Amino acid sequence: MQILITGAAGFIGSHLCERLLERGDRVIALDNFNDYYDPARKRENIHQLHNHPRCISCEADICDGETINRIFAEQRPETVVHLAAYGAVRYSIGRAKLYTDVNIGGSINLLEAAREIGVKNFVFASTSSVYGNTQRLPFVETDPCNQPLAPYPASKRAVELMGYTYHHLHGLNFTALRFFNVYGPRGRPDMMPFIVTDSIIKQREIGLFNGGQMQRDWTYIDDIVDGIIAALDKPVGYELINLGRGEPVLMTDFVQIIERLVGHKAMLSTPPTPLSEPKITFADIVKARRLLDYNPQTPLKTGLCRFWEWYQQEVMD
Ligand SMILES: NC(=O)c1ccc[n+]([C@@H]2O[C@H](COP(=O)([O-])OP(=O)(O)OC[C@H]3O[C@@H](n4cnc5c(N)ncnc54)[C@H](O)[C@@H]3O)[C@@H](O)[C@H]2O)c1
Repeated sequence: MQILITGAAGFIGSHLCERLLERGDRVIALDNFNDYYDPARKRENIHQLHNHPRCISCEADICDGETINRIFAEQRPETVVHLAAYGAVRYSIGRAKLYTDVNIGGSINLLEAAREIGVKNFVFASTSSVYGNTQRLPFVETDPCNQPLAPYPASKRAVELMGYTYHHLHGLNFTALRFFNVYGPRGRPDMMPFIVTDSIIKQREIGLFNGGQMQRDWTYIDDIVDGIIAALDKPVGYELINLGRGEPVLMTDFVQIIERLVGHKAMLSTPPTPLSEPKITFADIVKARRLLDYNPQTPLKTGLCRFWEWYQQEVMD
């Protein structure tokens, strides 16, 4: 299969590209290497793909509609996995325009290009943060998700809705996968596994909101990639599907696991909790199991151990 992946040089994208190439697909790896975090890290993530005979690298911005149309016309991808975005909930506060331009505007350029050439399946990276402060636990896809707590989840929810419109009007197969707190080797430097590990090593203070009494449903990268590939292989009309583990963990317990791996204590503080932060993320994965045969394999301790091995090899040296 000929698959276009946006955000291919990022954390999730680089793992996905590798797995698809391993199984024999052709990959068009698109990224603009923005500097939200060190672009050198992104180039490193995908450097081994450059000489792969079935991988084409495109350095392009999804906000540039003309270039996107040209790439689609020339490469004619059969399917699209759209991961490129500004992530990060808190960074989005005060940056609604940026998130609208990139996360919504860029996505619409891709939907248009996909419609134009008749892409068979469009898989979109959405987020658990669309659930906001919902009282319905675990988070289930039938929740209205109409009270996003920051521009980032609002932008993702907007694209989920636009995906429906493209499905309805143009027959595009569109699956939005709501990822829950993804972690693992190459994990983003702005996410807690990296921040906690790095702060312990560098003996810096770490802020835990609500005294660490927040719960997060951590999902290992390989499980997420399994879910993405299952969605890619199975056009389903229009669906919203959670990809989580279904086991929320208290932040204090999460920090303790990392402390044991690193062999040092963290220096903790308790800053005020921003309005953008829900107390819990907790995936109901019944739908993913049913539609995608999704079955997450990696417990948090195992996954963090692999993250720590990667950190020692790639970040500490
Ligand atoms: N990591 C998580 O826990 C998590 C959770 C929920 C949702 N997601 C979503 O999954 C996707 C991938 O996340 P990630 O953790 O791999 O993030 P990442 O930041 O590592 O990867 C995103 C990639 O997109 C690229 N990009 C950004 N804007 C672009 C543009 N305008 N044109 C082309 N490329 C652009 C970036 O350079 C980056 O390489 C994102 O859409 C994110 O919102 C991630």
